Amino acid sequence: MLILGFEKKDRLPYGVEDASYRAAGGEAGIRKLVDDFYDAMDQLPEAAKIRAMHPADLTLSRDKLARFLCGWLGGPKLYAEKYGPIRIPQAHSRFEIGSKERDAWLLCMEEALKNQPYTAEFKKYLLEQLYVPAERSRNRS
Ligand code: HEM
Repeated sequence: MLILGFEKKDRLPYGVEDASYRAAGGEAGIRKLVDDFYDAMDQLPEAAKIRAMHPADLTLSRDKLARFLCGWLGGPKLYAEKYGPIRIPQAHSRFEIGSKERDAWLLCMEEALKNQPYTAEFKKYLLEQLYVPAERSRNRS
């Protein structure tokens, strides 16, 4: 039955099909998350160094990260659609990213997650998952 099908899909674990994308509020929810993430980067003293790696105008950075996260969370591949293929380590190789910078990035995300209407379980899951690409972006100790 169609209704049963929907119920079953709603209970899919995060990481399966588009369960995480939907839990994150789809494209609109992810764009809000990314806006709050870059607002946190603008404000947190711990993030000053990584903020300085970015352009003054964050419009493009916001669009790129939001589109990337849509695909990464199992939703539409919006980054590839507009900007082409991407590999996270290579995309960051021109920046000096050590464990401090990785942790500052994750701190901005933790701060942004506080403002989202997600369950505590999904916030924890997302932060743990984001550690993986954050660690892959690291190119020095
Ligand atoms: C580990 C700490 C990280 C730092 C310090 C960092 C920093 C940066 C900087 C400075 C840019 C360039 C922004 C611009 O030119 O507009 C960038 C681009 C980008 N970052 Fe990160 N980033 C980090 C982690 C991550 C993670 C974990 C992800 C994904 C989950 C990510 C996804 C992206 C994407 C998609 C782009 C756009 C690449 C492009 O199109 O050139 N970054 N990052």
